[in-house]
Amino acid sequence: MSEAKGRQENSLMWIGWAVFFVLLIITFALGLLVSSIVTRRKEAIPLPLPRPIARWESDSRKWADAFPREYDRYRMMMESSTKTKYGGAFPRDYLEETPANVILFAGYAFAKDYLQARGHVYAIHDVTHTKRVNEKTPATCWTCKSTDVPRILAEMSPAEFYKQPFSAFKDQITHPIGCLDCHDPTTMRLTITRPALREALQRQGRDLENIPHQEMRTLVCAQCHVEYYFKGEGKYLTFPWDKGFRIEEIESYYDEAEFSDWTHAISQAPMVKLQHPDYEVYLTGIHAYRNIACADCHMPYRSEGGVKFTDHYIQSPLLNIANSCAVCHRWSEEEIRQRVESIQDKTKEVRQRVEETLCKAHFEVAAARQAGATDDELQNPRQLIRKAQLRWDFVAANNGMGFHSPGECLRILAAALDLASQARTELARILATHGVIKPIIYPDISTKTAAQQVEQSFVNGNPPNLLPK
Ligand code: HEC
Ligand code: HEC
Ligand code: HEC
Ligand code: HEC
Repeated sequence: MSEAKGRQENSLMWIGWAVFFVLLIITFALGLLVSSIVTRRKEAIPLPLPRPIARWESDSRKWADAFPREYDRYRMMMESSTKTKYGGAFPRDYLEETPANVILFAGYAFAKDYLQARGHVYAIHDVTHTKRVNEKTPATCWTCKSTDVPRILAEMSPAEFYKQPFSAFKDQITHPIGCLDCHDPTTMRLTITRPALREALQRQGRDLENIPHQEMRTLVCAQCHVEYYFKGEGKYLTFPWDKGFRIEEIESYYDEAEFSDWTHAISQAPMVKLQHPDYEVYLTGIHAYRNIACADCHMPYRSEGGVKFTDHYIQSPLLNIANSCAVCHRWSEEEIRQRVESIQDKTKEVRQRVEETLCKAHFEVAAARQAGATDDELQNPRQLIRKAQLRWDFVAANNGMGFHSPGECLRILAAALDLASQARTELARILATHGVIKPIIYPDISTKTAAQQVEQSFVNGNPPNLLPK
């Protein structure tokens, strides 16, 4: 082969490579263009705002000028007829659906009225219409219902606010949960407006100025979707987390404080009502472990007219699977729904067994008293009932029917079933010492009306005879 021919082949090869690289760059640039068209830019916040929002603006409508998309979706929460198998915004009557609730809450306001939660925009309406609120209700109950609360707390200390009666604020608190609850209007940053969460995190040694942004996307919800209680005479709103977030740690906190919400009207056990420990239960699940926030599922991104923004229509993710779960899980919508429902069905099944066992235990304590058992003898079964129902309620009052942490919910329900069964074994022995060998007469609690009649008879001090002939 001559030298000249070799040089010619060499330069041809270089031209070939050059053409190849130019094409490569063009292809890459076109790809970038297409991807920027398809994945739309996230909405930019125009700071400072052209028309500033007042520092304590509690009326969410006033934020709409600057943020019409977020506000329009927020308003969608007016929809209150949506239904999924176990959730949705439909105000389902938990007492109608599960009459055992009336017996479990005997002597407490939840036996009168207990509806499923719906959208945030209803918070004021619903808290002022429930039969659970009366003249003894403290102002503390307003805390998680309204944007007027951060406004008032800017003028008044939390202690001052909590200790007043609920009725003292009827005219000042009119705006339901909204923008001011989660955002600072000058920077639009997520912020914790509720003192109870700030205080609980501070007691745990957290530095509130340096919370990671992804965690804030959960903590804004943890201002309200948590277990809490009213501490002492001043009804100071407190989260019982000082020993930890698990039910055993919360129980030990309450036991040490000798706290109980009410004395059970049938068994006289000292009871604690769990609120809605959504955050605590979520913390034990796979999604929290993977650093996925409440907002990732309940406030996913949405695209409208080429703009990508956070969906402020907070609802059951099962009503928005395509934008929520399906962003991360490449399963079909139908499969996603089935996976969720299969977790929920299992939780519901075990929950129901606990409910039946606990109701029987409450009645057996009452029967033992009718047979002449003393408070001393009944002390231990009553403690077991308190422990069992605390666990049952941790799962039952938590939203999502077990989905947020399936394994933990079943573990807790199993413990509840065991404790309630231990109570029943002891009660059988106590009944036997007082001559009752045959099964006692369990009253009819198959409907809400029947269960409420039974409950009222105990409240009014003329209970039915439970002892067999
Ligand atoms: C991985 C996704 C996911 C995360 C993360 C998540 N949730 Fe949920 N959540 C669900 C699903 C699924 C349901 C069940 C909805 C149903 O049954 O219709 C649910 C139900 C709820 C409900 C009841 C809604 C209804 O319509 O019944 C509330 C309230 C709730 N979650 C609050 C929270 C809070 C607060 C957090 C964070 C502490 C959180 N969720 C984290 C997926 C999630
Ligand atoms: C329950 C808490 C909560 C409430 C109430 C709330 N937001 Fe948000 N908002 C969020 C979260 C979470 C994000 C996502 C923040 C992030 O990750 O950057 C967000 C993001 C935003 C953003 C940034 C742009 C975007 O869409 O991602 C704007 C603007 C905004 N919200 C406006 C509003 C307005 C207006 C209201 C009242 C109508 C409101 N928000 C009510 C939690 C809330
Ligand atoms: C200021 C307190 C507060 C904050 C903050 C808050 N919630 Fe709520 N949430 C409530 C109350 C109260 C209700 C029940 C309203 C009713 O039924 O009237 C509720 C209801 C809900 C429901 C039921 C809606 C339905 O359609 O079933 C969901 C889901 C929910 N919240 C999720 C969240 C998520 C996720 C966050 C954080 C991004 C959050 N909430 C922040 C207090 C709050
Ligand atoms: C931001 C991403 C993200 C979103 C949104 C999300 N998930 Fe997940 N999910 C994950 C990750 C990550 C895991 C853990 C997978 C692992 O570690 O193997 C997981 C695990 C699960 C699991 C357990 C998987 C298994 O096989 O054990 C289920 C079930 C699940 N997700 C359902 C849902 C549902 C239903 C939704 C919507 C309500 C949802 N997820 C939303 C990321 C997400």
